[in-house]
Amino acid sequence: MFSLGHYTSYMQVPFISFKSAHDKISKELLEKYSALIEKGDFILGEEVKKFEREYAHFSQTKYCIGISNGLDALKISLRALGIGSGDEVIVPAHTYIASIFAILEVGATPILVDPDRETYNITVATIAPAISGKTRAIIPVHLYGQPCDMEDIQKLATVHSLKIVEDNAQAQGASYRGKKTGSFGHINATSFYPSKNLGAMGDAGAITTDDEGLYQAAQTLRNMGSEIKYYHEVIGYNARLDTLQASVLNSKLPYLSEWNYQRHKVASKYLKNLKDCTSVSLPKTIPYAEHVYHLFVIRHSDREKLQHYLLQHGIQTLIHYPVATHLQPALRHLGYKKGDLPVTEEITETCLSLPIFPGLSDEQINFVSEKIIAFDK
Ligand SMILES: Cc1ncc(COP(=O)(O)O)c(C=O)c1O
Repeated sequence: MFSLGHYTSYMQVPFISFKSAHDKISKELLEKYSALIEKGDFILGEEVKKFEREYAHFSQTKYCIGISNGLDALKISLRALGIGSGDEVIVPAHTYIASIFAILEVGATPILVDPDRETYNITVATIAPAISGKTRAIIPVHLYGQPCDMEDIQKLATVHSLKIVEDNAQAQGASYRGKKTGSFGHINATSFYPSKNLGAMGDAGAITTDDEGLYQAAQTLRNMGSEIKYYHEVIGYNARLDTLQASVLNSKLPYLSEWNYQRHKVASKYLKNLKDCTSVSLPKTIPYAEHVYHLFVIRHSDREKLQHYLLQHGIQTLIHYPVATHLQPALRHLGYKKGDLPVTEEITETCLSLPIFPGLSDEQINFVSEKIIAFDK
């Protein structure tokens, strides 16, 4: 039973639950952990190598490099491309701030652009005008699990000789015209933060690429700039994927497609239930993309009140993201001001993420939908 002040609800809907996913793997995982403790294979062990092989195969790329987290994966991708001081990188303003921090951390300048109002992803319409003589790369972020229009972005990048680094943190398993996201860029980064579609039990991430040179460079950078122990070619990072996290990911990867399918079913039910609810903007999917619904984000003009109302009824929601990146204090030095990125600001002020995860029941989805409809009556 859920209680908030005077209000009591018998149905609880958490924003996320790992239970149904963990029930499938916890026994296997405990056995693997005992074996690992015996073996002491903790740094870049067999589990990391296995995951790199299997995630590369899953992503339809030649190579995968296990990395400590998504931010490091982006940062190392940019460094592997030789991007740094004096370079500009185009990135969506509407993203998790790590996409932007990575650019700043390598000493380059992020050029923030608005996404499309309907898909929440950047398109050539806003990328093209932002290209200057200093632009070196574009970071398309497949936000909320929906692929960007990669064909158009690739064409534009080719014309201007720009590199592409996909930020695939929210879209593991998504595809665009039948090809997996994370396989379009010259080098691509992802995060396995626990709540991601493929989540570790702590911090973890990866890089995928088809380019052997970038693969070698990224491998060296993640491991203290060293290929041979105690010989350091470049200034690197301690950004290795942890072996224990790799074993979690190895146990989960075989289920990812099934879990993405379950997310898709949850989204379809919300879309059907809420189709006549005119006060709510529902997520639009592009026809040639397979959306994996990392998040199910609606928009509502009275978002704060709706969120509070749902919470009173035992329904947890979140906001991705409550402050536009260009208005965050951490990015003040970039000189953006309110009004500069109006689409980002509008989405930020109205978006609300509904519960979505494998194992969310039809009863819970119907309950959330009913309450949203009731709020507007
Ligand atoms: C779009 C995006 N990029 C980058 C990251 C950074 O990943 P991490 O938290 O693993 O550093 C995240 C998630 O956290 C993300 O959602």
